[in-house]
Amino acid sequence: MDRQILVNTACDAMMKAYAPYSGFFVGAALECENGKVYTGCNIENSTFTPTNCAERTAFFKAISEGDRKFTRIAIVGGMGGVIDGVAAPCGVCRQVMKEFCDPDTFEIILFDGKEIKSYLLCELLPESFGPENLGK
Ligand code: THU
Repeated sequence: MDRQILVNTACDAMMKAYAPYSGFFVGAALECENGKVYTGCNIENSTFTPTNCAERTAFFKAISEGDRKFTRIAIVGGMGGVIDGVAAPCGVCRQVMKEFCDPDTFEIILFDGKEIKSYLLCELLPESFGPENLGK
């Protein structure tokens, strides 16, 4: 899928965010090797800790449906759903990506409202700990 279309899909997902506490809406669109795309939004909670990020929503949807091979993810976010800068993935989400993706090839696409920026997971999570450290 074209990068811009993946970003647009993430924008649509962002509008489904449940973020009454922070007011910061995030959307993600995760592309699988087989071409399927799973979307996700952030889902907050009044006790804060159970809050789930958009990226992890997308990953957990995919994995629970049997898809585990991923090529890239588009992520967008902003206060009230207005994008005026990149919404980079948090450390926990980067670690979840590391569990399932090759850091040298998995692409993270960010959109600041004007420009699309692209990174590899190895650039956003250098010297990472992963399954290989536990012999997997
Ligand atoms: N958030 C995400 O959905 N993804 C990230 O990678 C960073 C933060 C959400 C969590 C929370 O609902 C809101 O943004 C403010 O932190």
